[in-house]
Amino acid sequence: MSETDVQARILALTERLHHLNYQYYQRDISEVSDQEFDQLLAELARLEQQYPQFAQPNSPTQRVGGTITKQFPTAEHRYPMLSLGNTYSEADLREFDERVRRGLEGADYTYVCELKFDGVAMSLTYQDGQLTQGVTRGDGTRGDVVTSNVRTIKNLPLHLRREGPPQPPEFEVRGEVFMPLPVFAELNQEREANGEALLANPRNAASGALKLQDSALVAARRLRFYAYAFLMPGRNQFATHSESLEALAAWGLPVSDTWRRCHSLAEVLDFVHEWDKKRFTLPVATDGIVIKLDDFRQQEVLGYTAKSPRWAIAYKYPAEAARTRLREVEYNVGRTGAVTPVALLDPVPLAGTVVKRASVHNANQIAALDLRLGDLVFVEKGGEIIPKITGVDVAARPADAAPIVYPTACPSCGTPLIRPAGEAHFRCPNDRGCPPQRKARLEHFVSRKAMNIDGLGAETVGRFFDLGLVSDAASLYDLPAKAAELAQLERLGEKSVQRLVAGLEASKQVPFDRVLFALGIRYVGETVAEKLAAHYRTIDALLAASATELAAVPEVGGVIAESAAAWFQESDNRAMVERLRAAGVQLALTGEAPQAVSNRLEGLTFVLSGVFELHSRDELQALIQAHGGKVTGSISKKLSYLVAGDKMGPAKREKATELKVPIITEADLLAMLPTDTEAAETPEEADSAALPASAASAAIGSTDGPVAASAVAPPLPGPKAGTGQQGLLF
Ligand code: IVH
Repeated sequence: MSETDVQARILALTERLHHLNYQYYQRDISEVSDQEFDQLLAELARLEQQYPQFAQPNSPTQRVGGTITKQFPTAEHRYPMLSLGNTYSEADLREFDERVRRGLEGADYTYVCELKFDGVAMSLTYQDGQLTQGVTRGDGTRGDVVTSNVRTIKNLPLHLRREGPPQPPEFEVRGEVFMPLPVFAELNQEREANGEALLANPRNAASGALKLQDSALVAARRLRFYAYAFLMPGRNQFATHSESLEALAAWGLPVSDTWRRCHSLAEVLDFVHEWDKKRFTLPVATDGIVIKLDDFRQQEVLGYTAKSPRWAIAYKYPAEAARTRLREVEYNVGRTGAVTPVALLDPVPLAGTVVKRASVHNANQIAALDLRLGDLVFVEKGGEIIPKITGVDVAARPADAAPIVYPTACPSCGTPLIRPAGEAHFRCPNDRGCPPQRKARLEHFVSRKAMNIDGLGAETVGRFFDLGLVSDAASLYDLPAKAAELAQLERLGEKSVQRLVAGLEASKQVPFDRVLFALGIRYVGETVAEKLAAHYRTIDALLAASATELAAVPEVGGVIAESAAAWFQESDNRAMVERLRAAGVQLALTGEAPQAVSNRLEGLTFVLSGVFELHSRDELQALIQAHGGKVTGSISKKLSYLVAGDKMGPAKREKATELKVPIITEADLLAMLPTDTEAAETPEEADSAALPASAASAAIGSTDGPVAASAVAPPLPGPKAGTGQQGLLF
C-alpha cells in the first residue's frame, strides 16, 4: 500500500469506528458483530503503529488506553465548578420554589428535573468538534487534566457529529463520570477472588480509576459519562438549558434521557416520587434529583451564592439505613482541639460498602440517643463518607449494656477538657502542646486549598511529625537542610525528597491570603482570609490590629475577630510568623491596592434589578463602587436610584414608584460617570491622558479592554466571581 492509501485507510477506519461507536453507545444499535468491530479496531491499531504520522489524536484506538501519565498537570477552570445546595424534604423544595418565584418577581418559569448521578464531576472541552481536554473538579477552581483517561470512556464521543444546531468552535460540557453498577459488582467479585482490596463504592471506584496513571487500566474499569451542562464563551447560544441538552444529544454526547421539563412545583414533586424507586432500575448509582431553572436569562437573574447557584438545587433521597452493634467509642482530637466521638461497630454492609465506624458528632448526641455500649444501633449513610448513628433499637438493648462515659481529659495529652458555653464539642485547650492538634494543623497547612505543597501530603507530614522532624508550619522550611536524613526513610527515597524540596520552594509563591488561611486560625476560613488579606494587605498590619478593628472588616464578625486577634497576640505564633518570614513565605499581598476611580457617586445608593445589556450585574456593582457609590438589595425611601434592566419584575417597579425612587436605565447610570478625559484628569492620572475610548467599560474590566485601564480600575470580578453571563457558572 502506498502511503496515500495507508492514510486514506486510516481515515476510513477511524470514521467507520466512530460511527459504530455512536450507534452502539448512543442509540443501542449494533450494526456489526463484536468480532467484526474488534477486527476493524485491530487493523487500525496496526496501521497507526506502523505509520504513527497518520494517527489521529482522537482515534478510536485511544479508548483502549496505553498512555502513561506520571503526574497529572492541573488546569484552571474557565468557569469555576460550583456545587449544589442540598435539600432533603418536600418542604425544602417548596421553599426553594418560593425563593425562585420571589427572585423572578412574578415572571413565568419552567424547571428541568434530572437525576443526580453519583460519580465524579468532569469538565470536557471540545474544539472544532474534537475532544481536547478533560479536567476533574479538583477544588472547583483548578483540577487535574486527565484527558487520556477520559478518552477511554467508551460512550464519550472523541469527535462530534455535525448534526443538530451549529456547534460553537469551542465549548465545555460538564457531566458525571461513573462506574456502572454491574461493572462495579463484577470488578469487586474479581478482586475478591484474587484476594485484592475491594472498591468501596461506585463513586470511589470511578474517582480512583480516573487517577490511575496507566490509561489501559482505566479502560478496564469501563467508566461511562452522562452530560448535564453546556457552557460556551460569551453569551450562550441557547435560550434554555433544555435546548442545550437536546443539542448535546444531537451532537452525539451521552445525555441520560431521564430528564424532564416541569412547569410547576407539583410536576417537580411528581418527578421526585416517580424516581424514588424507579432509580434503582438504572445501571448507575443516583442519590437524588437536580432541579434547575430552564431559562438561562432567568438563571442569571437569580445568580449565585459563593458556593452554588440560586437557580438550582439538589433533592437528596433519604439514605439507606442498617442495624448493627456498637462495640466501643473512640475519641479523636481535631485541629482546633474539638474532641469527637467515633463509634466502632460490628461490620455491616450498607449502600455498597461495609461499615465499621460511624460518627456520633458530640456528647449531646450520645445523651440524646441514650447510646450504650453493646446497643443495636441504626446507621445511615448520607452524602458523607463516614456514616452516622441515627438511632438505637432500645427494645433490643442487652441487660449489660454499659453507659458511655465521656472522657474528662484529652485522650492524647491528658489536659482536662473544657466546653465553652454554647458549644457542642468538648475541647482540649492545650493547643500548643497537644500532639494531634499540632499534627492536624500541619496537615491543614500543606493541604491543597492552603499551601498546596507538592510532594508533601497529609500522611507524609504526619509521619514527619511523629518522627520529630517537624513541629510546626515554619519548621517545614527547615526540611531541605535534612534532605539526606529524609531520603533514608522507608518509602521516601531521593526522588520524593527532591520533589518535596521543590514543592516547599514553590509554596513560597503562594499568595498571602492563602498563607493566612493555611495558618489554621480558628474561624478564619478561605473567604475570611481573603477579606482580611485584602483589607490589611500585610501580616504586620494584621499583627497590630485589635479585635475591634478586625471586626470592622466586612464579613468578619466578632467571634472571628476575637479568635484572630488572640492568635496574633500569642507570642509563639508571632515567633512562628517571623520564622515563616525568614523562610521567604509571602506575608503581604503583592500588586497595587485597588483604588477608587472617582468619587462621582459618593453618597448615592443603587439597586440593580433585571438583566442588563452591556454589563453583568456584578460588573455594574463594581463600577458603582469604584466611583464611590453603594449597591443594596432592597428598595427603601433612602434609595437614590433603581437601575432597571430587562426582565425586571413588576413588584420592584411598583415599589420604587410608590416611594418616589427614580428608575433609571443602564445607559443613564453609565452617563452619570465621568467621561474619559475627566477620569484622566484626576491628579494621579494627569499624565496618562490618553485613556481608552470608554473608561467606563474598560474600568469594569471587559477582558479585551486596553491594558492602560487596569491602572485605574479596581480588581474586577472575572468569570470566577461571576460575570453574570447566563448559564456560565457551574
Ligand atoms: S448540575 C452548579 N446536574 O452533583 C452545579 N450536577 O453538587 C451544577 N451531579 O458534583 C451541577 N448529577 O457532579 C448537575 N444532573 C446533574 C448532576 C449533577 C450529578 C453532581 C455534580 C456535582 C454535584 C453537585
